[in-house]
Amino acid sequence: MDYTDKVMENFQNPKHVGELSDANGVGQVGSPACGDIMKIFLKIDDDGIIQDASFKTFGCGAAIASSSMATDMIIGMNIEEAAKLKNSEVVEALGGLPNEKIHCSVLAAEAIQAAIDDYKKGATA
Ligand code: FES
Repeated sequence: MDYTDKVMENFQNPKHVGELSDANGVGQVGSPACGDIMKIFLKIDDDGIIQDASFKTFGCGAAIASSSMATDMIIGMNIEEAAKLKNSEVVEALGGLPNEKIHCSVLAAEAIQAAIDDYKKGATA
């Protein structure tokens, strides 16, 4: 399967790249399958709404496209909704990924969960 236009668009012109200096939730995960690493930064307000999100991904094109799409999808969500974001929803929003690239989207969902967990630790401290 070739990459869809949506994947190429998000890979070549990714949204939300870089660090958020005022992030209050940061999560990093690595893929055991390929060794790629994804870091997600979240700025969450007092009502638990994700005001901003960004990413730094040391990984393949599909991982970058997944990070771009996933951060775009969760901005404006509350953290309970965002924590439930499934990698399959990211894949669907990208118009599909080749089978051997599905794990790249899993990284995005896991990194978001890790960032939310990080926020919760800080918020209850
Ligand atoms: Fe590992 Fe894409 S090949 S994240």
